[in-house]
Amino acid sequence: MHILSANQFNKELLIKLFERADYFKTQELNGEARRRLALTYNGRQVCTLFYQPSTRTRLSFETAATKLGIGVISTENAREASSAAKGETLEDTIRILGGYNLDVIIMRHFEKGAARRAAKVSNVPIINAGDGPGEHPTQALLDAHTIFSHHGRLDGLKVVIGGDLKHGRTMRSLSIILSKFKNNSITFVSVPELQVREDTKKLLSKSGTKFKETDNMQQAFKDADVVYWTRIQKEYISEPDKLPKGAFTITKKSLKTMPKKAIIMHPLPRVDEIEVEVDNDPRAYYFKQASNGMYIRMALLEHILENGR
Ligand code: CP
Repeated sequence: MHILSANQFNKELLIKLFERADYFKTQELNGEARRRLALTYNGRQVCTLFYQPSTRTRLSFETAATKLGIGVISTENAREASSAAKGETLEDTIRILGGYNLDVIIMRHFEKGAARRAAKVSNVPIINAGDGPGEHPTQALLDAHTIFSHHGRLDGLKVVIGGDLKHGRTMRSLSIILSKFKNNSITFVSVPELQVREDTKKLLSKSGTKFKETDNMQQAFKDADVVYWTRIQKEYISEPDKLPKGAFTITKKSLKTMPKKAIIMHPLPRVDEIEVEVDNDPRAYYFKQASNGMYIRMALLEHILENGR
């Protein structure tokens, strides 16, 4: 049971994972329940194999595993600290890990399609924790859970997605999930050179999900239920200094056109595209969103261990 794309999550599975994540959150509040939970999967092991930097994804997966009693082995900088630095292929690394009788490999890589390559040679379930500018399906899970928890639905939503949409893997995976539900409409906000890619537009058109593109952030905010902001991914851009500075920064002033019902989300890390003064606004949801990540990853690990292996 590999988790490679947000496309694998149907409505039924999403609701089941949301319910389990909510359950795990309540268990956390009770010391005895928390101790019991930590005995659930004693003797099982996962590996976090990260070729790109991460704070949230790696640590929330490792914490989620530990809270379920699952042992964790980890390479946090596999590009330099694993034998990849000596020229070992991804495929060989996965074959080696397969020989250790692990239960799950959670993998982040700098190349689009790397998780799929790994899955082809793996006898262990692979979770794609981000593959270059490809996808980030477990981020989409926590994003969808955050939206569902706040609005009580994943359909009939007006979602504004802004920032670097060309390289953004989180917005792509979230768009895939939104396209599975009815009557959502998405407004993509960016400069023309960083607008949403054709493959995302194609999948939205195919599913009948309405979308438009604009560079007018204030106008886009006006009737939003969700504002999903992202950073400029300088690691993929050859001349990032040529991009307009501050054009897509959410400031306190820019919140004036945003409805009270809206929530502001961001996969994080934030650099300068949401000013720190916005953090105190009740619509600022990005830190709550990040903490939801651990619970939904507990739910996903449970789902794989119960059904995949
Ligand atoms: N949202 C996210 O993927 O964050 P990290 O890069 O810190 O894992």
